[in-house]
Amino acid sequence: MSGCKSTKYSAAIPTRARCRLEAYSAIMSIAHEIKHARRVVAFTGAGISAESGLGTFRGKDGLWSKYDPAVVASIESFTQDPRKFWEFAREIGRIFLTAKPNAAHTALAELAAMKHLDCVITQNVDGLHQRAGSKRVIEIHGNAGRVICTRCLAEYATAKIVDRIAREDVPTCDRCGGSLKPDVILFGEPLPKRAFSLALKKVRSADLLLAVGTSLEVYPAASLPEIAKKSGAKIVSIDSERTGWDDLCDYKVSGPAGEILPRIVQAIKITF
Ligand code: OAD
Repeated sequence: MSGCKSTKYSAAIPTRARCRLEAYSAIMSIAHEIKHARRVVAFTGAGISAESGLGTFRGKDGLWSKYDPAVVASIESFTQDPRKFWEFAREIGRIFLTAKPNAAHTALAELAAMKHLDCVITQNVDGLHQRAGSKRVIEIHGNAGRVICTRCLAEYATAKIVDRIAREDVPTCDRCGGSLKPDVILFGEPLPKRAFSLALKKVRSADLLLAVGTSLEVYPAASLPEIAKKSGAKIVSIDSERTGWDDLCDYKVSGPAGEILPRIVQAIKITF
């Protein structure tokens, strides 16, 4: 658990064992909270897909340490010259097509099947929650599995045009010749209205928000945990690192989501 501060009792226990003990106790408490909550909503970021081999954005090895998001992932830059965006998309796209859901995605799907999770709000565009079996997924940054014509709005399944994407500098629309763009939100673009209003409604009515693998650096998505908190929800964070928003959390477990979430699901099954 975050911090692992010494208490009168824990000071006598070696640090790693103490952290494991505190994580165990947090997992049991979170399981109890989830089991007795009226509405649990999950809010996920890139960290939940890290164990599926997809890179996160920030941090030492994050995508934004190798690429400048203003150049490869902003609508301004796409409008000026979509080639830079497509070069980047081709480079990271291959892994998107082959990635499989991991134990964390599966745990959330299981939690929903057990009626302990209302929905997943995700900033991710990889579609892995749905592939793991989650039925109610609110995608607030779009989905890279679709490609849209920027002129006539024709929609294509990415998987069906991969050859064209590999061949053409900037893939174009069959119908009108307009530039194609994955159906994902780039910096400077507004979020999809319906998805974001639904996300707001869900967090306002939640009594527990389970945030997984997000640094909360990008607004307006980053405002959701705070809105949930102000509406009275308890906030749980599962993240492999300390984040700048740990203070907002009622519970924080530091560790890989693919290990922690299945343990929470298991604990729900065995606790009262
Ligand atoms: P970030 O890359 O900012 O944060 C990922 C978080 O996941 C960090 O806090 C990591 O510590 C944590 N993490 C990494 N591996 C983990 C693991 N195995 N288990 C649990 N946690 C892990 O990604 P996001 O917060 O999702 O937006 O970024 C938000 C938005 O910024 C993205 O949707 C994207 C990006 O720019 C747009 O493209 C509009």
